Amino acid sequence: MTIAKRIFFTSISFFVFNSCASDSNEQSVDDRLDTLLSKMTLEEKIGQMNQYSSFWDVTGPAPKEGSTAKQFEQLKNGLVGSMLNVNGVENVRKLQQIAVEETRLGIPLIFGFDVIHGFKTISPIPLAEAASWDLEAIELSAKNAALEASAAGINWTFAPMVDISRDARWGRVMEGAGEDPYLGSKIAHARVKGFQGDDLSAPTTIAACAKHFAGYGFPEAGKEYNTVDIGAPTLHNMVMPPFKATIDAGVRTFMNSFSQLNGVPATGSKYLQRTLLKEKWNFDGFIVSDWGSISEMVAHGYAKGDNHAAELAINAGSDMDMESHLYVNELASLVKEGKVDPALINDAARRILKVKFELGLFDDPYKYCDEAREASVIGSQSNLSEVLDLAKKSIVLLKNENNVLPLAKKGQKIAVIGALASDKTSPLGNWRLAADINSAVSLLEGLKAYSGNTITYAKGADLTTGKTEFVSDLTINTTDTSGFKEAITLAKKSDVVIMALGEHAMQSGEGRSRAYLGLPGVQQELLEAVFAVNKNIVLVLSNGRPLTIPWAAQNIPTILEGWHLGTQSGNALAQVLYGDYNPSGKLPMTFPRSVGQLPLYYNYKNTGRPSPVNPGEVFWTHYIDQKNTPQYPFGFGLSYTTFGFSKPIVNNTYNQNKQVTVSVKVTNTGKREGKETVQLYLRDIYASVIRPMRELKGFEQVVLTPGQTKEIIFTLTEQELGFFNNQQKWLVEKGDFEVYVGEDSQTINQVNFKL
Ligand code: NOJ
Repeated sequence: MTIAKRIFFTSISFFVFNSCASDSNEQSVDDRLDTLLSKMTLEEKIGQMNQYSSFWDVTGPAPKEGSTAKQFEQLKNGLVGSMLNVNGVENVRKLQQIAVEETRLGIPLIFGFDVIHGFKTISPIPLAEAASWDLEAIELSAKNAALEASAAGINWTFAPMVDISRDARWGRVMEGAGEDPYLGSKIAHARVKGFQGDDLSAPTTIAACAKHFAGYGFPEAGKEYNTVDIGAPTLHNMVMPPFKATIDAGVRTFMNSFSQLNGVPATGSKYLQRTLLKEKWNFDGFIVSDWGSISEMVAHGYAKGDNHAAELAINAGSDMDMESHLYVNELASLVKEGKVDPALINDAARRILKVKFELGLFDDPYKYCDEAREASVIGSQSNLSEVLDLAKKSIVLLKNENNVLPLAKKGQKIAVIGALASDKTSPLGNWRLAADINSAVSLLEGLKAYSGNTITYAKGADLTTGKTEFVSDLTINTTDTSGFKEAITLAKKSDVVIMALGEHAMQSGEGRSRAYLGLPGVQQELLEAVFAVNKNIVLVLSNGRPLTIPWAAQNIPTILEGWHLGTQSGNALAQVLYGDYNPSGKLPMTFPRSVGQLPLYYNYKNTGRPSPVNPGEVFWTHYIDQKNTPQYPFGFGLSYTTFGFSKPIVNNTYNQNKQVTVSVKVTNTGKREGKETVQLYLRDIYASVIRPMRELKGFEQVVLTPGQTKEIIFTLTEQELGFFNNQQKWLVEKGDFEVYVGEDSQTINQVNFKL
């Protein structure tokens, strides 16, 4: 603690610091909580359960009128426990000072913020990070995000989003780790560890929040906030594992969800919040509602009014109300009327205060308010090399016919075409509230940093027209092709054309479901027009979700999936295009051929009619106008080298020590050093509850020089071999299993064993 802060503290005579902070060494957190709670009124406890978004123009005087004035009064009266969307030490300090100095008990606020993929320095969007399959790098990314956010006064992030999703129409797939519960669980664990570190009370770590509990990633028709109706096998074997992984990693908070799950809004679900999370999983942190999701239970048709919504939410186990204003307005009277047991208020307040204690806010409410640290950490963006590293690892090479890539470093005339090539903001992705506008390195800038080639740029066409804001709809250019001519002329006289096409960052994320997943606007037309004059095209995609690109997949020789890669986007892409980094990313989500195939995912179940008995017959599981297979499967990604796999060998010692090992030899069969992500998939061929055709149950990354071989050994235990049946019982059933080990989810490198 600085001297200034010490002087400040000794001048505080509030109860909390006299009775709780000063003897912190002797008293356990539980004792301190007991003491504090015994002094709090019902209203003050409810106040801890009330969270507002930034309502105060911190540069000006306190608001004097309207609803924000009321909120400001509530803050001064100890009726606000948390704020979100406040950022920067000066702003945080001002609000914290009110909580600490002006309220009766001086209880500090906890400051939440959507630190989703970086804070000031932006990492690749989470879906892109997942494509790296590099758990260490992903953990480091979260750690660095926490480092920056905490330097700006934040002590709680609303991340990681661990919602599994199989539907690329849903815009929020950009914020998750894709479609697979095994990969998703590993990443969920890594992200929590990264944010929270080993010591939550360190000024450089922040509390994480597993969201959105639960099922939010399965909205009908991929439409945002839509009804979720899924059965027990999907809920417990697909949706829940990543949430459970965050518990195992020690996550301190959960967020429930906007959507209803099987007829009950998640926010009002006692089963999810009390029975499963708090009782079965022993979660002792707190649950925050999603923004306004308590009051939205009225529109859902579950609560008859605001008062009823508050009653349902607290009884169900939602501890903190984000922006519904209903706990602070309704709970006290609900308790007095006997509709809510005061023990539930005690429990919720206790959970929230406990996390504040763990963060160390009672020992120093200003521990995240260090101006000097803010200036050095935020100003220096010292983690640029780490975000560059992860951006490179996140890129997926989808196609490289005729080895157009890597590009020669000199003597080439390279045309760069597409609005996204020069865009310095879209690469920052959807969640970049604290980043500076235009702070990403564009693809064009990245390419120009290599000076041996002639790089010439023509936009071709705008992608958007008008404003591109976080809260508003975008307008996509669907008519203006006036720039095509210049682009075509340039393409004609170039050796290679790099086309930067895809989605604007504000086309994915919350509230951004799409019904068409092709290249938006006039981009497909532009691509075909350029292709007509120069076929030597490298298509660099930027997008927050899988796209449908059947024409490009068929015709364009080279396709690189570049997602929204963050601050260092252009440098990462250029290094991959020029071969300074050999691409190693693997898709964390299936790319469909067409929207009609959705939801499409690799871990599907067989039907009774998986293939036709006679060729040409219709009575089997298929479309009459589309293939069943994806454009690019889960786990897919090429390299500038090639890899070969030996047939896997099983050592089944399950009866002796409950484990099966599977070994495989991987060889770099190409001419460059490269990294392969060796993936193991399992199929439990028949079971009391039908198991998927394949399930990822292990992966390992290996870097090999040309000709080098390495043996990888996977161990399968009850954890990998079992599943939840419909009574939520974990079972490993005797019988036949298939194991596949190889480069992606469609590998045919197979071996069988019996348990
Ligand atoms: C709504 C989103 O669903 C949630 O994920 C986010 O954390 C909150 N808004 C706060 O911004």
